[in-house]
Amino acid sequence: MVAMLMTDRLLLRSWREADREPFAELNADPRVMEFMPRLLSREESDDFFDRIQGHFERHGFGLCAAEHRATGSFMGFIGLFVPQFEERFMPAVEIGWRLGYKWWGQGFATEGAREMVRYAFDVIGLDGLVSFTVPANTRSRRVMEKLGMTHDPADDFEHPRLPLGHPLRRHVLYRLAARKTSAA
Ligand SMILES: CC(C)(COP(=O)(O)OP(=O)(O)OC[C@H]1O[C@@H](n2cnc3c(N)ncnc32)[C@H](O)[C@@H]1OP(=O)(O)O)[C@@H](O)C(=O)NCCC(=O)NCCS
Repeated sequence: MVAMLMTDRLLLRSWREADREPFAELNADPRVMEFMPRLLSREESDDFFDRIQGHFERHGFGLCAAEHRATGSFMGFIGLFVPQFEERFMPAVEIGWRLGYKWWGQGFATEGAREMVRYAFDVIGLDGLVSFTVPANTRSRRVMEKLGMTHDPADDFEHPRLPLGHPLRRHVLYRLAARKTSAA
């Protein structure tokens, strides 16, 4: 299981039962879920919470709860996930993020994701990471770019979990290869 990661303003930590409620609020917010197929009910959010715990048990890493250090508030998640579908770029490990609306636009996602990239490469020893979203999700794409991820249109794909013709089916794929840095 991932040890707690810390940045100037964030803790990236394992989840607590108390996170279920603010997590459900996040997953029911149309602004946060604009580029997701649908809002999640409390039950669906709890199922996702449980799947995140299962992922940590299976892989030893996962989507970490993001906590605002100054206030102790739960903000959302930043972390790593092994996609559960077949695509040309698989097998791969995805880096992803979802933060409550009030936290947006202050560099939090990039700050946490940078630390997660370091962890993925220097501690887990992954060779590379991918990230993907719908073309219109410019905020998330900007985070990917700020991490140094690159986008080759030849990698774009139709998300196999969404039905043909679904407006969110088209996805852009970003990649980041591990740089061999010293793990000081
Ligand atoms: C994507 C998300 C995590 C970004 O969080 P954040 O903490 O605001 O991200 P950061 O502040 O680190 O970076 C956001 C960047 O997007 C830019 N941005 C914000 N709104 C934008 C817009 N409408 N168009 C283009 N860029 C935009 C910001 O200016 C910033 O870039 P900059 O540092 O060059 O100015 C957050 O918006 C979120 O949770 N969205 C909903 C969930 C989601 O879409 N997750 C990703 C699914 S793949």
